[in-house]
Amino acid sequence: MLENFKQAYMPKTEFPRRTVDREKCKRCKRCFDACPTAGFVLDTEGYPVPVGYGGLEQACLNCWNCVAVCPEGAISMEGAYRVPEGRYKTRLAGAVTPPDPLGLGGGKSWAEFEAELTPVERTIYKRRSNRLFKKKPVSRELLLRVLEAGRFAPSAGNCQPYKFIVITRKDAIADIERLALRALVPFKNLYMDRQGKRRWWKAALFTTLSTVMVNQLDQRPFTAVQKAENDGGVYWDAPAVILICKNPRGISNPDLDTGICAQNMVLAAHSLGLGACYIGLSVEPMRYPHMAALKKRIGVVPPWEPVTSIALGWPRGEIDTVVARDSPPVEWIE
Ligand SMILES: Cc1cc2nc3c(=O)[nH]c(=O)nc-3n(C[C@H](O)[C@H](O)[C@H](O)COP(=O)(O)O)c2cc1C
Repeated sequence: MLENFKQAYMPKTEFPRRTVDREKCKRCKRCFDACPTAGFVLDTEGYPVPVGYGGLEQACLNCWNCVAVCPEGAISMEGAYRVPEGRYKTRLAGAVTPPDPLGLGGGKSWAEFEAELTPVERTIYKRRSNRLFKKKPVSRELLLRVLEAGRFAPSAGNCQPYKFIVITRKDAIADIERLALRALVPFKNLYMDRQGKRRWWKAALFTTLSTVMVNQLDQRPFTAVQKAENDGGVYWDAPAVILICKNPRGISNPDLDTGICAQNMVLAAHSLGLGACYIGLSVEPMRYPHMAALKKRIGVVPPWEPVTSIALGWPRGEIDTVVARDSPPVEWIE
């Protein structure tokens, strides 16, 4: 219990160690651009250097996107993201392993067993969150094709408690980003400033707030807010955004229905060669009053409530690839 309080604000964390091989690195900056956190800086020669941020020794979600986007195989990862105690204690194995759907025990590489998988399985394992987009727009035909995959998702009682708002107007996307950052940045600065100074009153405030806002105050989103602030937006210059809203009057659990529907769309998008990335950073701030007018303008009006959004576009270079991942617990009742 005491650890819950002591480790609520900036908990002791084990981060994966990222290494950039300078012999292989061609300084293309893809890792720097694709990292969802402010997890890299460029040195004076333009080489990416893994860094922490705001007092964190590292700033890494363990997503392996930097490894995935590097065409030279110059980045390696060791270890996992792990919080050993307290409110934000992680409940994963604390070790990352590549996909092993055939139960081969890691004995074979992906290339050796990929052919044995179904197309759906291949898309599931190869899909990565895409944060490198071309300027090229996504055609209406393809957007409709992605939406259609959402329409045929399962939902409790088949009640489809969702609404899709497709935004391709640059100024509308920019408005959402600007207003989202207006809420996120002061909050992030309260949590940790760029220098990483820890102040007793911040610790006290966050420890108290985290008892009621445990999902919002995990340190990981804050490292991502720093990146968004650096970039001036949360949508990674994607040419299209699908905002997915729920009707809270759905049967049972409309949030779950909406998530399932969104994942249908994301997988369909990747199978079509598009890149997609869930963006939650813009959705949380929609709960605050300063976004009310904008919400009205884009059609987020009662009964609709925003649940998540998807940045969509043509990927810039290869992104979909297999990475290693930590493991949640599995229990078998046999
Ligand atoms: C509900 C949800 C919200 C997310 N929000 C963001 C976001 O705001 N910005 C972002 O860059 N990535 C966001 N992500 C992407 C995750 O960071 C990503 O899925 C995770 O790191 C695993 O990487 P992968 O998708 O490449 O496998 C979100 C993912 C989900 C499921």
